Amino acid sequence: MDKLIIEGGVPLTGSIDISGSKNAALPILFAAILSGEPVRLCNIPNLRDIHTTLSLLNLLGCPCEYDEGRVTVTPGELLPEAPYDMVRTMRASVLCLGPLLARIGQARVALPGGCAIGARPVDQHLKGLELMGARFELEQGYILGRCRKLHGARITFDMPTVGGTENLLMAAALAEGDTVLENAAREPEVTDLANFLIACGARIEGQGTSRIYVSGINSLRGVEYSVMPDRIEAGTFLAAAGLTGGELLLRGCPVNELESVILKLRDMGMDIDVLPDGVLAKCARPLRCVDVKTEPYPGFPTDMQAQIMALMCLAEGAGVVEERIFENRFMHVLELVRMGADIRISGHTALVRGVRRLTGAPVMASDLRASASLVLAGLAAGGTTEIRRIYHLDRGYEKIEAKLARVGARIRREKE
Ligand code: UD1
Repeated sequence: MDKLIIEGGVPLTGSIDISGSKNAALPILFAAILSGEPVRLCNIPNLRDIHTTLSLLNLLGCPCEYDEGRVTVTPGELLPEAPYDMVRTMRASVLCLGPLLARIGQARVALPGGCAIGARPVDQHLKGLELMGARFELEQGYILGRCRKLHGARITFDMPTVGGTENLLMAAALAEGDTVLENAAREPEVTDLANFLIACGARIEGQGTSRIYVSGINSLRGVEYSVMPDRIEAGTFLAAAGLTGGELLLRGCPVNELESVILKLRDMGMDIDVLPDGVLAKCARPLRCVDVKTEPYPGFPTDMQAQIMALMCLAEGAGVVEERIFENRFMHVLELVRMGADIRISGHTALVRGVRRLTGAPVMASDLRASASLVLAGLAAGGTTEIRRIYHLDRGYEKIEAKLARVGARIRREKE
């Protein structure tokens, strides 16, 4: 297992290219199952979750290979089974459910268990697919789904779920008749998936709003499509500029999709300018704490909660961070406290009081974004921070230590 060693205290300066979005690439790869023709994708980040998805697509009968950011998925004889070993390591595997039911009328997908950031059920995915004509049984830890031909339906989600909206969008694209998704997730990654499906010939309207209309068609054609840039990776690097008092130009940064994050960072005192060649983030003065509440898009993203909390650890004053999307998403807090942060948790909120300095320490990564917050804290801390279990980081950040080292960070990877 690898670990990261960081010698903190260096202001980061220079430019960083933002990679393709993991959370947009995953559903789009699964959506390739729907097409009867080869699909060529580019701007696919080189990440562990992407390779897990490609292995799963191969198992499901869609041969595909990764080549420097490009993936071609070729349609083949589809098989219905997503085994536990895959779903266990990547919850997003459940996104094959809708496409498999739409294409072959059956799917056997391991039920994702609880995971580090809360229970995260898939009841909304199943409820929607049932309204479209699928029947489900639970068999030895597997969801066994069957249907004749999915039909359109009016589906109202109990909460805006990103994965649920994506699964239903994919199923509805090939269903018979019209589907309306109400209280749909508005996240840019859902919009990117809809745009991909539209490029394949699907009839979809309203993506990016909470009501999406889909008019089912019989088949989708092949297409070449470039995945959107990763707004969470970009947000993480903006926070890195703030924490180290540096100046970073993020090339290919998705500005509109990051608006809620940019506004909060400006509130904290960072200078963030949108330039023709990217977003320039500077931080020369002491930052101040703000209150942050995570919400569905266009609110502040839960996937940036841990990173902004790391930034607040070294800001002036105090601020409250409220996590409204996932229970149990404060695992980074105890590790930050081990580095000298002053944070108190009470239920879904954390009170952060800024301190003058953080000190390096051995810490343990617990999930993807928690790991990112520890990297950020390590970059700003005095002395050496050693982050263990960084396989979480490798699930979602492409070449993070190379990108950071190029802008001056003293960071290296070692075998544990
Ligand atoms: C996706 C993102 C993840 C991000 C999250 C919220 C991917 C691969 N992952 O996860 O990085 O943190 O959106 O922006 O894109 N829920 C239910 N029942 C369901 C589905 C969801 O109760 O059937 C609840 C969840 O427990 C959670 C909330 O709804 O409390 C939102 O979850 P959801 O939007 O579905 O998250 P994911 O799609 O799993």
